[in-house]
Amino acid sequence: MDSTSSTYLPTPSSTIAPEVDALFNFILLASFAIFVIVVAVTLYFSWRYRRKVAGDGLTYGVDHNIKLEILWTTIPTILILIVFVWGFKTYIKMNVVPGDAIEIKATGQKWFWTFDYKEGANLVNELVVPVNKPIKLLLSSQDVIHSLFVPAFRIKMDVLPNRYTITWFEATHTGEFDLFCTEFCGDGHSEMIGKVKVLPPDEYAIWLEKSSVLGEGLTLEEYGAELYKTKACYTCHSLDGSLIQGPSFKGRFGSELTMTDGTTVVSDENYLRESILNPRTKIAEGFKPIMPTFQGILKDRQIDALIAYIKAMNE
Ligand code: CUA
Repeated sequence: MDSTSSTYLPTPSSTIAPEVDALFNFILLASFAIFVIVVAVTLYFSWRYRRKVAGDGLTYGVDHNIKLEILWTTIPTILILIVFVWGFKTYIKMNVVPGDAIEIKATGQKWFWTFDYKEGANLVNELVVPVNKPIKLLLSSQDVIHSLFVPAFRIKMDVLPNRYTITWFEATHTGEFDLFCTEFCGDGHSEMIGKVKVLPPDEYAIWLEKSSVLGEGLTLEEYGAELYKTKACYTCHSLDGSLIQGPSFKGRFGSELTMTDGTTVVSDENYLRESILNPRTKIAEGFKPIMPTFQGILKDRQIDALIAYIKAMNE
């Protein structure tokens, strides 16, 4: 953390972040100052006007003070106007996307994020962007309401089914930043996390070119190994036989599996393909139907590559 880090959130790392923090700190400090004044005056008056003599002890003749009334009406009004104008300016800035922004499609679904680039690249739970360049995110959901939150950038936007929402940011530092879902969206909500990787422009250009061709120059198996990482298969499927959420890829191909309905299925190419595209039609015994569909996310060559990779796990 450098000197600009804040007590409440990670180091501001986007163009908008310092403005959001400044406004937040102003409201916090003003609230704190008002709290101290109100409590101090209350305590002082309780003491100053305590009952001292026998009798009814009331103070007569003071029920109104024009100057005080004006004072305590004007000061809060000015404060509210400052917060309104300042907040409105920041709000407008956060909502008007610069014309030269790079557009990336972001999709939320139970329980991961996908990011699609117009050049063809697509990533799961990882958003790669260049530094010092405005990025527009076009957001939508495949199922329920999610919300995309990058604390270091101070951006948060709801992600809805059947409707697009938009947010944008311009990262000012290279590095990796946490990305969260902040709308409770079911069992896996707390696992719906990802990373924003901010690269220098030249590295970004190289990355984009390399990621936009579908595994060109790689064998199916090598490409499958790459997809296993970039599509985050590893979050549920191990390679060493250990159980995470789903079956391990090790020794899975060709084995005879018992389904939850008692039928048996041979884990061949067709079964694997179906499990990727319609994972809930056949559930192997001992597992929960939690795998999301990759329909529309994986292209044919990518499915072939993953099947080749799973097959290679038998050797
Ligand atoms: Cu998606 Cu919480």
